[in-house]
Amino acid sequence: MNWHARYTQQAAWTRDLRKYLFDKAGLDRAAFVLEVGCGTGAVLRELTTPTPLHGLDLEPASLTQCRIHAPAASLTCGDAHFLPYPDRSFDIVYCHFLLLWVSDPLRVVREMARVGKTVLALAEPDYGQRVDEPAELKPLGEWQTQALMRQGANPFVGSTLAEIFFQAGIKLEETGTIRSVGVKRSLEEWENEWAVTQADLGGFVPDSEIQKMRVLDEQARTRGERVLHVPTYFAWGKT
Ligand SMILES: C[S@@+](CC[C@H](N)C(=O)[O-])C[C@H]1O[C@@H](n2cnc3c(N)ncnc32)[C@H](O)[C@@H]1O
Repeated sequence: MNWHARYTQQAAWTRDLRKYLFDKAGLDRAAFVLEVGCGTGAVLRELTTPTPLHGLDLEPASLTQCRIHAPAASLTCGDAHFLPYPDRSFDIVYCHFLLLWVSDPLRVVREMARVGKTVLALAEPDYGQRVDEPAELKPLGEWQTQALMRQGANPFVGSTLAEIFFQAGIKLEETGTIRSVGVKRSLEEWENEWAVTQADLGGFVPDSEIQKMRVLDEQARTRGERVLHVPTYFAWGKT
């Protein structure tokens, strides 16, 4: 699995929203900016600002790639539950597809609120509200949700973001879901999506069932009837 390709695809889904939110949050006036759970740098590399950028991630291998994609950023290997920075050391602290992967999202957001003046959770999904059409493709969504849980993720975290921000003492400015209008997936994206699905489901869903779904998906896509929507939430506020 090419994780950087996957993260780049996810970053494309949120590009317009990020521009809107970073403008509101005052990225152009920020002196210090941190991405928690920066991965391979798919988002960090798109930040066009003279500001010193910082990234933190648990995985050394991701940081090695991040060094290539976002060479100007200062990178730290660390755990989001215990951020190694003094209080209020960043103007903006954000995360993107991170909270579903951490064991204690409230603790992570509290840490983000401790080290940052403005906190943004840019994209966290809620697979409990996933929509798959035609109906014959619904098992795919259910399997994917189970697969995420088996990997230790919380696939439902998105809809709890506002509550998490409230509990972390952040004054919420805005929350909502990412609009999917105008997002038409290319064949390459479809293939990429399937690479993720196959990697996730392999081993616990029989390969014949996965292949059956893949064919149904392809046919529905060709007929123009395929709907795949995972409501993905954002929230931002000030500390
Ligand atoms: C889905 S990736 C998203 C990467 C990046 N934010 C992006 O959107 O391209 C989630 C990242 O969170 C990192 N991560 C997971 N748990 C973490 C933790 N406790 N502390 C720091 N990073 C963590 C993973 O290593 C991975 O790089």
